[in-house]
Amino acid sequence: MENYLANSLRYSGMPYRRSGRSGLRLPAISLGLWHNFGNIDRFETGREIVCAAFDHGITHFDLANNYGPPPGSAEECFGRLLRGDLAPYRDELIISTKAGYTMWPGPYGDWGSRKYLVASLDQSLKRLGLDYVDIFYPHRPDPETPLEETMAALAHIVASGRALYVGLSNYPAPLLRRAAQLLRELGTPCVIHQPRYSMLDRWIEPALLPALADEGIGCIAFSPLAQGILTDRYLGGSIPGDSRAARQAFLRPEQITPERLDAVRQLNDIAQSRGQTLAQMALAWVLRHETMTSVLIGASRPAQVIDAVAATRSPPFEPEILNRIDQLVGPLQPQ
Ligand SMILES: NC(=O)c1ccc[n+]([C@@H]2O[C@H](COP(=O)([O-])OP(=O)(O)OC[C@H]3O[C@@H](n4cnc5c(N)ncnc54)[C@H](OP(=O)(O)O)[C@@H]3O)[C@@H](O)[C@H]2O)c1
Repeated sequence: MENYLANSLRYSGMPYRRSGRSGLRLPAISLGLWHNFGNIDRFETGREIVCAAFDHGITHFDLANNYGPPPGSAEECFGRLLRGDLAPYRDELIISTKAGYTMWPGPYGDWGSRKYLVASLDQSLKRLGLDYVDIFYPHRPDPETPLEETMAALAHIVASGRALYVGLSNYPAPLLRRAAQLLRELGTPCVIHQPRYSMLDRWIEPALLPALADEGIGCIAFSPLAQGILTDRYLGGSIPGDSRAARQAFLRPEQITPERLDAVRQLNDIAQSRGQTLAQMALAWVLRHETMTSVLIGASRPAQVIDAVAATRSPPFEPEILNRIDQLVGPLQPQ
């Protein structure tokens, strides 16, 4: 790819959805850099994926301190893009990062203390080459640090100009409600929650989604394609050599069980009858909730991003199709 100039029509197709009751609108499809943007990956491919995303109206890019491998290298890779291709477009971008998993040795390099969150974000800003990120998240609840301390650290991070908004990630409903109350009292309302959600993991439906609606907090679902299981990647019955499952880290071949594959093939038939790919149907299914602000996908090539973007033009779901999907995925839910 030569010098990058963003597509002048980039805002013509993508819907932007309000995050809860905040002023922030996010693209219905957002891109996460958990995989494929580390030092072990080819930089040029990452660059093509990010530029294709921005060209199609994806303005939101999600990172975390530990994304790579090695940890920190996804932020460095994105920082390189921000200094180069994306430099003219900083004010068109919503960049998020997180802290919550192990980053350095000793008692201050993990979890949710004020010490760790502030120090980690300072390191992230250096790697990204930014003065501030748009959204900062504690990556996971810390059972040992008082919730008041973690929330006060988030309010301090916003007040000090290191982040514009705060979100929460992986908080169950009761804790989310308490955290949201504390953040409101501190004058830094939580704008978004980032939980795992897909047809293969519907844990947020009974309590978390209603809590988010009550609290006026948006939702951005991560791994909406179940890391690739809800796509055509594994339909052939083998593990493609360039797939995430072949890396045997976060998605292992044994997770693609015959029962899952059988259901996924039937979901694929439904998607085809709707005139779309399985990935597009899986994303549209997540976006069917009013509380859902955005789906946070990953990609190993630009074509996957372009495929995902078309999910925003999906036909509505007939009740009988939703029932059929419920029947197929019901037995596959984690116990
Ligand atoms: N807050 C948290 O705790 C947390 C945890 C996990 C993730 N996240 C965030 O969520 C983001 C997305 O997670 P994820 O990567 O697991 O999401 P995902 O969208 O469920 O899975 C992405 C993978 O699916 C495959 N894929 C994507 N689009 C495809 C298409 N159109 N056709 C065929 N295959 C397609 C690709 O697999 P191949 O690589 O095999 O091609 C891609 O790497 C992360 O980058 C991160 O920002 C947050």
